[in-house]
Amino acid sequence: MLTDRAAFLDRDGTLVRDPGYLSRASDVALLPGVAEAIRRLNQAGIRVIVVTNQSGIGRGYYSEEGFRAVQAEIDRQLECDGARIDATYFCPHDPTVHKCDCRKPGLELYRRAAADQSVDTAGSWFVGDRVSDVEPAHALGGHGLLLAGRDGTFDEPLPPGCQRVEHLSEAVDRILRGGVVAEAPYRVAVLVSGSGSNLQALIDRFADASAKPSVNICRVISSRSGNRALDRAHEAGIPTAVVPQGETADWLGAELSASGAQLVVLAGYMRLVPRELVEAWRGRIINVHPALLPAFGGQGMFGRRVHEAVLEAGVRVTGVTVHLVDEEYDRGPVVAQWPVPVLEDDDAARLAARVLEVEHRLLPAVVAAVADGSCVLGPDGARWTRPLTPDDVFRQ
Ligand code: GAR
Repeated sequence: MLTDRAAFLDRDGTLVRDPGYLSRASDVALLPGVAEAIRRLNQAGIRVIVVTNQSGIGRGYYSEEGFRAVQAEIDRQLECDGARIDATYFCPHDPTVHKCDCRKPGLELYRRAAADQSVDTAGSWFVGDRVSDVEPAHALGGHGLLLAGRDGTFDEPLPPGCQRVEHLSEAVDRILRGGVVAEAPYRVAVLVSGSGSNLQALIDRFADASAKPSVNICRVISSRSGNRALDRAHEAGIPTAVVPQGETADWLGAELSASGAQLVVLAGYMRLVPRELVEAWRGRIINVHPALLPAFGGQGMFGRRVHEAVLEAGVRVTGVTVHLVDEEYDRGPVVAQWPVPVLEDDDAARLAARVLEVEHRLLPAVVAAVADGSCVLGPDGARWTRPLTPDDVFRQ
């Protein structure tokens, strides 16, 4: 099912200054407002896909490696501002010797990107500083936004289905507010197995749809039927699904894609996430664990056992970890941790209750930070553009 919408962006002259056949990473200069514009698209859940003609490769002016080095530098500069390009497609051909359908305004790269990224081109936008960047909108049923403010001399007739804007920020205003689409809530799927008290904390934190950031818990998926977590989801009117017996990566992958989730939260999900799914969603699945990982985690470390192990080890401080999920239980880059002191007269039940209270605060705070862009998740870990404060965690 095609659920995502995309902004297909041209690169040279749209995202970065165009010196003509840009080929050196040291020449990369983002145009003003570009990082913020892309960050807003990221936050609204619109896929950001760059489609660029790079005939300089075919003409022998620079190599594919040179092109990739420039791209890596653009990604790096954007990442510093909390913005992310989801995918880049390029045509390397010299049009004087090679007639292809991947060179814009040809449609091949857009069609390939749409298939790879499950994007519905009819609900998408085609943005760039040349007519060839926006023309594909007509054939693919989307909207074209031509950046015509660069030299003010643009006087060609606009292709059908296209509008003229001054710069990328204005294009993003149109996409998000200009009647094309409303800024959408950030979509989160939650995976559960048991009582679902962390799910409840998320439901309560994001119940007010008009509050900022707006987060929509779009699906609850349970590894078991008949648990309290599913009741909580039903009470909140959230669509649910139960993992069928014997089903693994394919079923879960299809369910998550269909939900339109931008982030997956494991809230007491007691199964290992299938390897293929971790691959496909790396950097977009988080887990909450009731200890300070890497201590007191791993297979079999859940519920009471975690706190018994903490008491047995005699440590003075335990806590809560939210981390990105990888192929092992309770491993993967840490996103946030919060300490909980171990008290003299603690038993496992008392300690578990105090840790759970902090889980109910920290997990929603992290989801809010991801949704509003102050925590940027990626395949290699999390980057905070502003630190998480006690107010963020405890005064929600
Ligand atoms: C929570 O304490 C969570 O940290 C833990 O399961 C519990 C679920 O409670 N997860 C792990 O131990 C992961 N290794 P809940 O169902 O009431 O939210």
